[in-house]
Amino acid sequence: MMRFVTTLSVLLPILSPTATGNEQVSSVPDTGCVKSVCRLHPNHFNLLTYLQCSRLANLLGPNSFFAGNRNLAVWDAKQQQTQSACRVLPTSTEDVSSVLGVILEESCRFAVKGGGHARDPDDSISAGGVTIDMQKMRSIQVAADRSRVKLGSGHVLYSLYSGLEKYNLTTLGGRVADVGLGGFALGGGFSSLSPAYGLAMDNIFEYELVLPNATIAKVNQHTHPDLYFALRGGMNNFGIITHFTMRAVPQGQVYGGSRTYSSNIREAVLQQASDLTTLWKNDTAMSFYYNFAYDQNLDDFTIAVNQEYALPTSDPPPFRQLNELPYESDTVRIDRLSNFSTDGISPGGGRNLYATVTYQPSVDLDRKLQDILIEELQPIKTISGLSPSLVIQPLYEAAVQANRERGGSAAGIQAEGPLTVVLFNTRWSDEKDDDAINALANRWLQRSLAATHEADKFHPWLYINYASKAQHPFAGYGEANLRKLVAIQREVDPKGIFTSKGLCRGYFKLL
Ligand SMILES: Cc1cc2nc3c(=O)[nH]c(=O)nc-3n(C[C@H](O)[C@H](O)[C@H](O)COP(=O)(O)OP(=O)(O)OC[C@H]3O[C@@H](n4cnc5c(N)ncnc54)[C@H](O)[C@@H]3O)c2cc1C
Ligand SMILES: *[C@@H]1O[C@H](CO)[C@@H](O)[C@H](O)[C@H]1NC(C)=O
Ligand SMILES: *[C@@H]1O[C@H](CO)[C@@H](O)[C@H](O)[C@H]1NC(C)=O
Ligand SMILES: *[C@@H]1O[C@H](CO)[C@@H](O)[C@H](O)[C@H]1NC(C)=O
Ligand SMILES: *[C@@H]1O[C@H](CO)[C@@H](O)[C@H](O)[C@H]1NC(C)=O
Repeated sequence: MMRFVTTLSVLLPILSPTATGNEQVSSVPDTGCVKSVCRLHPNHFNLLTYLQCSRLANLLGPNSFFAGNRNLAVWDAKQQQTQSACRVLPTSTEDVSSVLGVILEESCRFAVKGGGHARDPDDSISAGGVTIDMQKMRSIQVAADRSRVKLGSGHVLYSLYSGLEKYNLTTLGGRVADVGLGGFALGGGFSSLSPAYGLAMDNIFEYELVLPNATIAKVNQHTHPDLYFALRGGMNNFGIITHFTMRAVPQGQVYGGSRTYSSNIREAVLQQASDLTTLWKNDTAMSFYYNFAYDQNLDDFTIAVNQEYALPTSDPPPFRQLNELPYESDTVRIDRLSNFSTDGISPGGGRNLYATVTYQPSVDLDRKLQDILIEELQPIKTISGLSPSLVIQPLYEAAVQANRERGGSAAGIQAEGPLTVVLFNTRWSDEKDDDAINALANRWLQRSLAATHEADKFHPWLYINYASKAQHPFAGYGEANLRKLVAIQREVDPKGIFTSKGLCRGYFKLL
């Protein structure tokens, strides 16, 4: 580090902001840091932001500091091509607090990166500012009674599952190995264990958090009931989470895997999915989701149903009928959750868009939303690298119930029975097709929402981790919850650091 600082001080006289005459005057920069001129080159490494970065480099040392996006791969190409001025890798809550302290003094734009699976620039890779990358924070501390586990927020789901398997335990993780615990658990978190325990966010007992003024807080129902309410659904509007204390559940191997089906037996699969959502909700060891996906090579849709059963049972009753249908391929087996999580890895490198709709279960709506995708896709189906699909899964009563417990939560899911949550997602290759893809997503969304209203099965709750930037997931939390959330945000962040006009603007903002 010494050498680096020396080089900088040699450069300093030439590159000082006043020498360039481009110093920003506004109190909050559009990009980068206020004392720099990053605005000139938002996508290029900027030496002047480096001056602020050098303070961070000195703080954390050479192995915890990188210029721009060096040595970094995130899932989405739009995020990958956005350059930060620098990236820091804190290893403790105290590190995060000191980093945020410097950032506040220098008034730098920044973003927090968990597993890096967000889809838009500045969500988790800062556009021209500092990326705080949590990947070195992957501790696991199991409570003596094995009912809880304190987890570093930088875990990805593979490190989480494989780490907990050493104790024969698991927690409410997601389906895919390289997705981050951070974004997953802050947004909600659909897990194979959700039919029994609810979403991941409703199984967090305590958060260790660096507040917007860089002080450290332990947030639970007793210490900070307001923040505890807000963090369960409030996403990245309240500070930087460094640890989650979550429910631990004894777990050995489980039944799971996926089978793919040809589109010509879609009706039979739709009926099975409907039975699993409504008739079989009594079996909370069972979980499933299915993917209705366009395959450009075949110029046809295929259906993949993922079966999950939380016991090492070879023939779980809920899936018996489904497993009588003729299938194209099969990965069903008894294995560890960590291994299953590697099945679904979706390699990085493409451009991605998500959007979501929630409704009361209905086979007719499932079919209708798929038909809308088939129709809307036709004019643009040859776009390079295009692979649109709908992932359809239930949100069972246990999840709705868990959301009400412990003083309620920001997400405020209200429902009498299970809900169906649909994720529209597509990947494509070239920036020139961005507009066509956005238009496809919007048409699918508008027509699908209209269909849910027409069927009188519309539900306002939206899963924030599946929502597009054109959607307003916080509005779906209900008016009273939203008012409360906004009031809590203002109180803990009076300077608006974690708002759309502040220093950390990524993902979904309350203000
Ligand atoms: C292939 C794939 C599979 C998926 N499977 C599932 C699934 O099974 N179940 C499910 O519910 N969802 C699933 N998702 C959605 C996923 O939960 C979200 O995309 C989630 O936001 C990703 O979190 P991340 O940490 O990887 O991403 P990031 O881009 O790192 O983070 C997302 C947002 O959260 C913020 N954030 C992350 N960590 C912190 C922190 N410690 N403090 C403050 N803010 C933070 C970031 O700043 C960013 O704005 C999947 C997504 C993909 C792409
Ligand atoms: C985990 O379970 C296996 C198989 O039952 C057992 O052999 C092992 O000792 C257990 N490990 C721990 C840490 O409990
Ligand atoms: C659950 O529902 C299924 C389908 O209706 C039924 O066959 C099964 O016996 C039920 N199981 C229990 C434990 O009630
Ligand atoms: C599952 O994971 C274990 C431990 O990492 C590994 O030894 C085993 O080969 C894996 N099994 C499969 C089927 O991938
Ligand atoms: C930081 O913010 C918290 C939450 O609003 C507040 O309680 C605390 O007093 C603040 N600390 C400092 C040093 O300003």
